[in-house]
Amino acid sequence: MTAVMNESRQFTPELLEEVNRIVSLFPEGKQKSALIRVLHLAQAHFGHLDTEAMDYVARLLHLNPIEVYEVATFYSMYDTKPVGKVKLEVCRTGPCMIEGAERIIAHIEKRLGIKDGETTADGLFTLKSVECLGACGYAPMLQAGESFHEHLTEEKVDALIEEYRANPVANYMGLK
Ligand code: FES
Repeated sequence: MTAVMNESRQFTPELLEEVNRIVSLFPEGKQKSALIRVLHLAQAHFGHLDTEAMDYVARLLHLNPIEVYEVATFYSMYDTKPVGKVKLEVCRTGPCMIEGAERIIAHIEKRLGIKDGETTADGLFTLKSVECLGACGYAPMLQAGESFHEHLTEEKVDALIEEYRANPVANYMGLK
């Protein structure tokens, strides 16, 4: 498996090696099974999954581009547009809705001056409402990077935004 040359989207040799390793975990001809993981690599490497990035992944895995588009646009963990440094993913499924997710989303929109799906002008925050994140017992909740924030209130959200504003990478390292 080799990368097509003269593309604006390219993995590094190390990433291509990792793609080959992931593909080798599946039976011959079942390389589509590697798609979820390879899309994660692509998103981490390119920042988001635009059409060129998805087409590149399709060529790498010998898939039709539509097969990649379907997966990348189905799961909320993938971003097809650029996002901010801190992505606030607020669960909007039943249990979280009952516990006030709508109120939390409206509060974040007002606080950041953006709508659901938008990014602040300074490129710091993106707000994205998503389906169940598996923390229903702690509703309402949101995910930021690798951190879950639960039993949200407007006050907790305000504090969270201030903490992330001061330290945007904290969403990948966990807030102290
Ligand atoms: S319903 Fe919100 S985490 Fe499951």
